[in-house]
This record gives sequence, structure tokens and C-alpha cells, in this order.
Amino acid sequence: MDKIVIENLTLTYSDGTESLKNVSFNIQANTITVLFGPAGGGKSSLLRVLNRLNDLADVTTLEGSVRINGKNILDPDVDVNALRRQVGMVFSRPVSLPLSIYENVAYGLVMAGMKNRKKLDEAVEQALRQAVLWDEVKDRLNDPGVALSGGQQQRMGIARVLALHPEIILLDEPTSALDPLATAKIEEMLRELKEKYTIVIAPHNTQQSARISDMAAFFLQGELIEYASGDIMFTNPKDQRSQDYITGRFG
Ligand SMILES: Nc1ncnc2c1ncn2[C@@H]1O[C@H](COP(=O)(O)OP(=O)(O)OP(=O)(O)O)[C@@H](O)[C@H]1O
Ligand SMILES: [Mg+2]
Repeated sequence: MDKIVIENLTLTYSDGTESLKNVSFNIQANTITVLFGPAGGGKSSLLRVLNRLNDLADVTTLEGSVRINGKNILDPDVDVNALRRQVGMVFSRPVSLPLSIYENVAYGLVMAGMKNRKKLDEAVEQALRQAVLWDEVKDRLNDPGVALSGGQQQRMGIARVLALHPEIILLDEPTSALDPLATAKIEEMLRELKEKYTIVIAPHNTQQSARISDMAAFFLQGELIEYASGDIMFTNPKDQRSQDYITGRFG
């Protein structure tokens, strides 16, 4: 099922940079879709459009449409706060608030007005379990979040997003600051999460893209050059430019 339908998306920043040029593709539900390609290709720009974080940037042109469950999220009448709960974002550096582990995960729910302690307890446990962090923190939920390792803090941040019951999770280089073991845990977690969620990720290298992608989209200077299953993209891409990039002829 197509979860996100992107049509003729063009984004130009006010300094004239065309970061997305007439991009069209569909993102399927319950898959991991990887956006990859060299620096400046537009991967982060696209992720930001998907939950309207681009609203905060200096953008002169935003054309085309991005339909999620049939609704164009670029329409002016969209409730952006609701959209950002539906489409959660995880960044490369964990965003740990100066609060306990419990409060870090409950944060969005408390902000949304949930007060019932039992409900909060359940939601926090469920989110931490989904983020594969529960066993490591269940006996120290009141410790400060910043006391966790980098990888644990990243999973705690993911738990904070999951607690809001999103449908789509966006991740921008979520493991770029992590060691290989912490990275492997996050990749494993993503494979489990895709059973329930639609995942769109810009990995920080091609190896990770190849490991985790169900579908892969290759971006070069704002253009979507090729979109294919990960199996095909990373073994037998059609476009010479994808091939050259994947085989390391340019970076
Ligand atoms: N807020 C902004 N204002 C102006 N130009 C921007 C802004 N954000 C990104 N750009 C430009 O848009 C283009 C695409 O950038 P973007 O960050 O989306 O690429 P990327 O594929 O995520 O790159 P990287 O691999 O380095 O993360 C680049 O030329 C970049 O300089
Ligand atoms: Mg980026």
C-alpha cells in the first residue's frame, strides 16, 4: 500500500538553491525506504518536507504535492502539530531533555495533556519496549536521560517519538554518532518497527543503506535519479550514476 505519494515536488531555498527538483515517487507502508546519495542531494530537505519542518526554513518555492493517506500535507489547512505526531522525526544527535528517562519518553504525551499516571506508565513501557530499550532501563527510569550511552539516548529519543503513536518515522542519519554495536541495535530495532510503521531514513553511508533498505531512492543534486528495491539498487542499479556512486567512483 502506498503510504506517501510524492508528486512533482520542487523546493527552492531563498538563496536560490534548488534542493528538490520535480521529485515524484511513492513510499510504501511497512517498509524501510532509504534516501541516499552524496552530500547536498536533498535527502534532509525531503525528510523535513514530510513533516513540514521546512516551514521553519527560508524557502521561496515549494511546489507539487505530498499526500499521506490521501491528504496533501502541503495544503495550508493542515494541522502541523497533528502532522508532526503522525510523522515523527529522529535526528542524528539524540535530543535528550534534562529530565529522567521516564520523563524523556513521556514528554510528548504530557505536553499533549495526558495526566493519568497509570496510562503514562503503560505508554512509557510500551514505547521503551518498541525501542528495544526497556530491559536496559526498567530498573532506573528515574535516572537522568543524559546518563545513558549515546546509543541508548538515541533509542530513548525514538521511544519519545513512538509514544505519540506515529504512523511514519523519519530518521536523518540516526547512527552517525554511534559505534558499530549501537548502530547494529538501531538497525535491528528498525527492522522490527517496520512491522507497525512506515520508515523513511537517510543513512549516513551506503553500507547502511544497503543493509536496511527495502526500497532505495538515489538523490543527486536535488534529482531523484533512481528508485528501486534495495536488492536491485545495491547489486544491479539501472542508472550509470547510481552505479558509479554505489561502487565508490564518486562520493
Ligand atoms: N536551510 C537552507 N537554506 C538554504 N539552503 C539549504 C538549506 N538547507 C539545505 N540547503 C541546500 O539544499 C541542498 C540540499 O541539502 P540537504 O541538506 O537537503 O542535502 P542532503 O542530501 O541531506 O546532504 P547531506 O548528505 O550532506 O546531509 C544543498 O545544496 C544545501 O546547501
Ligand atoms: Mg542531510
